[in-house]
Amino acid sequence: MLTRRSFLQSTAAGATLALHATTTAQQPATPVRVGVVGVGNRGTFLVQVLLALPGVEVNAICDIVPERAEKSVTAVEEKTGKRPAAYTNGDHDFENLCARDDLDAVITATPWDWHATVAVAAMRAGKYAGTEVPAATTIKDCWNLVRTSEATGMPCMMLENVCYFENVLAILRMVREGVFGDLLHCEAGYQHDTRYLHFTDDG
Ligand SMILES: NC(=O)c1ccc[n+]([C@@H]2O[C@H](COP(=O)([O-])OP(=O)(O)OC[C@H]3O[C@@H](n4cnc5c(N)ncnc54)[C@H](O)[C@@H]3O)[C@@H](O)[C@H]2O)c1
Repeated sequence: MLTRRSFLQSTAAGATLALHATTTAQQPATPVRVGVVGVGNRGTFLVQVLLALPGVEVNAICDIVPERAEKSVTAVEEKTGKRPAAYTNGDHDFENLCARDDLDAVITATPWDWHATVAVAAMRAGKYAGTEVPAATTIKDCWNLVRTSEATGMPCMMLENVCYFENVLAILRMVREGVFGDLLHCEAGYQHDTRYLHFTDDG
């Protein structure tokens, strides 16, 4: 029986949770085999996270910019000695990645407009789907994700991680324990210095 807990523990979709966690990951009985679509800033980082996890294999990388794919392919090869396959043949080459039979999960860190399309293709190909935020940009695509997951039986997880930050979880606990009384209205913000994203060579 696949539960949310066992899914997070045993699949690469839970990998992003490792970003801010210091838990000791357990080695799964069989490796979790992952393909990554979109290796710009975030995808490159996610590949590093996957490589740091025991029992995870990165078998395929896809990006429409061949140099970016090559960078992650080389990173995997240097760490594991095994060279993953590269898919760089245009906007829909991720479909060929999804069709591979040596993957359990496909993670997408493409720009927003591609997330739902890639996740749906992954689930249709029988893979767990992990998608960067936001999972979809239209209500239609939200339903497409839900219906595809229900039809295929494959889970799809949005790789949000801020909600697991210690300070955010602390506030959640305080809310639940009634520290603030009955909440009638709530406002929150997220400040993020993105200058390094805008002023890097390939940003
Ligand atoms: N969860 C988080 O904390 C977090 C943090 C940063 C970014 N993100 C998300 O990650 C995603 C990527 O952000 P980024 O800053 O890495 O952007 P980026 O532009 O650096 O990377 C996107 C990559 O996708 C590639 N790409 C575009 N279309 C493609 C396609 N059809 N097939 C394969 N590759 C394709 C691009 O060539 C590029 O390399 C965004 O959706 C962003 O919202 C999430």
